[in-house]
Amino acid sequence: MSSPPTFQPVLDRIAAEIDKMPERGHPADYIPALAACDPRRFGMAVAELDGTVYGVGDWRRPFSTQSLTKVFTLALDLAHEADELWEHVGREPSGNPFNSLVQLEYENGIPRNPFINAGALVVTDRLHTQTGEAAGTLLDFLRAESGNENLAINEDVAASESAHGDRNAALGHFMASYGNIGNPVPVLLDEYFRQCSIEASCADLALATGFLARHGIRADGTRLLTMSQAKEVNAVMLTCGTYDAAGEFAYRVGLPGKSGVGGGVIAVVPGRCTLCVWSPGLDGHGNSVAGVTALDRFTTITGLSVF
Ligand code: DON
Repeated sequence: MSSPPTFQPVLDRIAAEIDKMPERGHPADYIPALAACDPRRFGMAVAELDGTVYGVGDWRRPFSTQSLTKVFTLALDLAHEADELWEHVGREPSGNPFNSLVQLEYENGIPRNPFINAGALVVTDRLHTQTGEAAGTLLDFLRAESGNENLAINEDVAASESAHGDRNAALGHFMASYGNIGNPVPVLLDEYFRQCSIEASCADLALATGFLARHGIRADGTRLLTMSQAKEVNAVMLTCGTYDAAGEFAYRVGLPGKSGVGGGVIAVVPGRCTLCVWSPGLDGHGNSVAGVTALDRFTTITGLSVF
C-alpha cells in the first residue's frame, strides 16, 4: 500500500530554491531588538486540518510574531463581540504603509482595516475591554491551538517596542480623541507591544492558524468563529494582510495571508491546510522577501490557491 501524499517533498524543494536566493531583504531596524536577526534564516511549515505538520529549515525556531498576532486578536474579538467591532474599524485596503497616520483624520478616527497598526490598536483595545487581558488571552489561545505551553512574550522586545513606540502612541491618542479607544492609551500600548512580542515557531503558527482553514473550528473541535466570520477574516487577510503590497501578494500567492515585521507570513488554504514561513529579511513594504517567494512557489507547485 502506498503512503498518503505529504507536503514534505514540496517543502524540501522550496527550501533548496530559497537557499540559492542571493537577495533576501533587510531585517526590520526600527525595533532594535529585531535588527540583529540573520536574513539568511529560513523556515516553513504546513499544517493539515487534523494537526499533522510538515516543516523544513528553521521551522521549529521561535521568532517574533509581530503583526501576525493581528489575525488572532481579530478572531478573538469577533468571537466575543461579533459585528459590533465593524462599527469601529473598516474592511478596506488602505493602500498605505502599515504604520501610516494619514487617513485617520479625514476618516474620523475609524481605521481602514484591522491589520494596519491603527486598526489593530482598536481591536486590541476592544479585546482588552472584553477580556480584561488582551495579550494574555492571545497567548493562552496560541498555546492551546499550537499545543505548545512554552510560548511566551519576549519582554525585552516589548520594552524595545515601547521605547521606540512614538508612532503607535500617536495613533492611539489620535483615535482616542475621536472616542474610538476605550482604555487609557498607555494601557492599550502596553497590551499591544506585549502582543507583538510573543515568540512562536512556524510549526506553532501554522497550527494556531488552523481554525481559519477549518471554517472556524478550533484544534479541540469547539467552534471559535461562525463559518461566515471565518470567511470574513480570510477575506480581510487576502485584501489587507500585506498592507500596500496586498494586490501583489494576491497576484503572486493567491491565498489569504498576513505578514509581520519579524519576517513571518501565515497563509490559509481554506478546507485544506495552513502555512507559516519565516525569513527575517524584509522588502520595502515590511513583508518577508523569502517568505513571500516561498508561498508563491508553494501555490505554483501544488496548485493550491483560492483561485
Ligand atoms: O506596531 C509595530 O510597530 C510592530 N510591533 C508590529 C508591526 C508589524 O509587524 C507590521 N507588519 N508588517
